[in-house]
Amino acid sequence: MCGIVGYIGTQQAAPLLLEGLSRLEHRGYDSAGVAVVGPTGVRVAKRAGRVRDLQEELPKRFAGKAGIGHTRWATHGPATDANAHPHTDGKGDVAVVHNGIIDNANALRADLADAGVDLVSDTDTEVLAHLIALSDADTLEGKVSETLQRIDGTYGLAVLHADFPDRIVVARNGSPLIIGVGEKEMHVASDLAALVRYTTTVAHLEDGEIATITATGFTTYRADLTHAPRTATEVDVDPASYDVHGSDFMLREMLDQPAAAERVLRGRLDERFGTAHLGGLNMDARETRAIRRVKILGCGSAYYVGQMGASLIEELARIPADAEAASEFRYRDPVIEPDTLYVAVSQSGETIDTLLAVQEVRRKGGRVVGLVNVVGSAIAREVDGGIYLHAGPEVAVASTKALTTMFLGFALLALQLGRVRDLSIADGKRMVAGLQALPGQVADVLALSEELVEVAEQLAAAESLFFVGRVRGFPVAREGAQKFKEITYRHAEAYQTSELKHGPLALISPKVPTVAVVPHDELTDRNVAALHEISARGGPLVVVTHPDVDLGGITCRRVDVPRSERELDPILLTLPLQLLAFHAATHLGLDVDKPRNLAKSVTVE
Ligand code: G6P
Repeated sequence: MCGIVGYIGTQQAAPLLLEGLSRLEHRGYDSAGVAVVGPTGVRVAKRAGRVRDLQEELPKRFAGKAGIGHTRWATHGPATDANAHPHTDGKGDVAVVHNGIIDNANALRADLADAGVDLVSDTDTEVLAHLIALSDADTLEGKVSETLQRIDGTYGLAVLHADFPDRIVVARNGSPLIIGVGEKEMHVASDLAALVRYTTTVAHLEDGEIATITATGFTTYRADLTHAPRTATEVDVDPASYDVHGSDFMLREMLDQPAAAERVLRGRLDERFGTAHLGGLNMDARETRAIRRVKILGCGSAYYVGQMGASLIEELARIPADAEAASEFRYRDPVIEPDTLYVAVSQSGETIDTLLAVQEVRRKGGRVVGLVNVVGSAIAREVDGGIYLHAGPEVAVASTKALTTMFLGFALLALQLGRVRDLSIADGKRMVAGLQALPGQVADVLALSEELVEVAEQLAAAESLFFVGRVRGFPVAREGAQKFKEITYRHAEAYQTSELKHGPLALISPKVPTVAVVPHDELTDRNVAALHEISARGGPLVVVTHPDVDLGGITCRRVDVPRSERELDPILLTLPLQLLAFHAATHLGLDVDKPRNLAKSVTVE
């Protein structure tokens, strides 16, 4: 979703801004723009379309050693040149880029229109540029502070002003803003990916803060401009791993899953005591024993893997656990219990719904830990402790390797919780061995890829599909349907196999295939009985199952995955569903990495 970059220093800003924007492209966007401030004032170039289109059309003389840039994901008004950021005051004095949503934009637009201001876009951001230009404050910081006092909503923003060409002023409330410190130059970005090529010395602005950035340093303030000193620190990231140019990300990320699985487990398994060690949780044995309930919060695939995680925790730690869509959680005024452990799960660590859910829990005194991939991200910094997933950068919108590491993160958490409580050492050792074997088994399932091409092509021909599973298999079916709909644009609906005859069976026909998840477990026979009902109605079937499951001669395309420990089976059953979605979307000629209408990180509500 929307991205911000900024630069001030000794070099021309525009090429650096464009390079930074190209490093944010994978987040999803529909227009891009840059502004520079130089001796002749503020200049802006922006347009709907790609960063490279903007680059090609950039005016020859676009000089300035300070500038800001933006990739926009349309929220207020369609993707047009006029709606692209930066927005200006129309006089060339002020340019603003903004991530987030101004809730009272309509009222402010009406006030500005009454005052004779000509608004040229449909956006909420444009009001910021005008309010800053109209402010009487003597300093740019004062103008920005005064403006922010008039707005409700979320923002990460960066401002240029013709009268203050020696600085960029930035502010944050609910949308990430990172300052990067270089040699006689400074950078700004909403995402580390845009910065790490230049510097790994960074400062994260906190909510409610404003900062002045000059070529030689930065100063941070609270909203009322009292000083809030903040020092930059070194982030421990490999800049090369942020090299996200290229294509085929989903494929590469799926194939990276065995290695990612090894990374998330590395150093965290204890064979001797049959347990896991998660130092980052910041919880001692006494606190762990006091947990009476676990509530997992996430969105999209993170929510579905959260449901898998809840099963793991119930099974291994015998603590009641469930997962809830973080996007709904805070709107039902949830009761926050002191003996509940809340777990936020997020690849990006900046999904706004998950972040706001975390803040809701913390505001009410609850304890939240995070399962987060992006180091130093907003959620990672907001939680009381957590587990980094070490999946490496994930670029494709459809989550694959991050999801696998989330599952394993939950397995580690469940094992540690279980061993502090009632899980026997024998069961603990069984789980450790099962986890150690998983990376190899993940590779074995991925090796089925070519075999699945044909069946995926058949599924791609259907307009509508069901994905079904029961108990442990149901979140697998949900995640399978999610992947399929995200990248093939087919209607893919997940159902509990047990619920089929309570409604959806009416839709089963030769035109509506069902992908069924049928592990070897206590429900196998019942699952097989349901498959017969589908088959009897002519419904084509793809069955993801274990080699020793007897499907009773049913006509279907069978996909066998190796068995793990039964608690860990869901992740191996999920992998063929990734491959089916990938091959189906590829067959349909779709942009697998960047599906329409979706963003990698959803940073506005
Ligand atoms: C977006 C993506 C989904 C992803 C979800 C949660 O909706 O399109 O693929 O699962 O966000 O993202 P997170 O970064 O919090 O895991």
